[in-house]
Amino acid sequence: MHISKRLECIANMVDNNSQIIDIGCDHGWLDIYLTIKKNCQCIASDISQNVLKNTEVNITKYNLNDKIKIICSDGLDKIVVNNENIIIISGMGTNTIINILKSKKVNKINNLIIQSNNNIELLRKKIVKLGFYIYNEKIILDGGKYYIIIYFKRGKKKYLKADYLFGPVARLNKANGEFYNKIYDKNMLILCQLPKKYIFKRLNIYLYLKQLKKITSI
Ligand SMILES: C[S@@+](CC[C@H](N)C(=O)[O-])C[C@H]1O[C@@H](n2cnc3c(N)ncnc32)[C@H](O)[C@@H]1O
Repeated sequence: MHISKRLECIANMVDNNSQIIDIGCDHGWLDIYLTIKKNCQCIASDISQNVLKNTEVNITKYNLNDKIKIICSDGLDKIVVNNENIIIISGMGTNTIINILKSKKVNKINNLIIQSNNNIELLRKKIVKLGFYIYNEKIILDGGKYYIIIYFKRGKKKYLKADYLFGPVARLNKANGEFYNKIYDKNMLILCQLPKKYIFKRLNIYLYLKQLKKITSI
């Protein structure tokens, strides 16, 4: 079966035979893929009953109805979790993800794989505050857009401001050089076009660029 590069990258972070809870599963492709390719046990969950009708059609197409459990739930509300589970939340914004992770059930969770569509710095900060550290990070270009996928594990690590901004794992990986170069070029263009009177804005961008060059793989 074919899934997007983004979903495949998420799936590649998961070990065989894992117990997955996919929150906001939508079409259910990730769960179908993980069941077939990695023999995972998946709970495919979504807030929308309508969406889940479509999920069920896809799961039926692959004859996996007895393997993938479908649950309609707002975040973790209706889901029973255990410390073996890997929670996956992808394709949503940081605020929605953080709201879902406010559930007390998160205290029982040791593994989270998250792909947010925005504000990754805030996402890293908030999840580290919940008692997780950043175990792995992948940056993937899919359909002309970059996606950052972060694997958090239960535990503590100290991070610099720059780690939250650029990613403690991702920034050290030379393979991500192109991604950081794009950010550098974009900000350099803004700096060049910003009139001289905006002294502080210019200074902030200048310092950001200096730091980007110093601590990433570019
Ligand atoms: C853009 S889709 C992402 C689908 C899939 N996870 C992916 O990465 O391709 C977001 C899905 O999250 C669901 N969703 C939004 N808020 C949710 C919540 N609080 N709890 C569960 N599902 C939610 C939506 O109904 C939608 O199906």
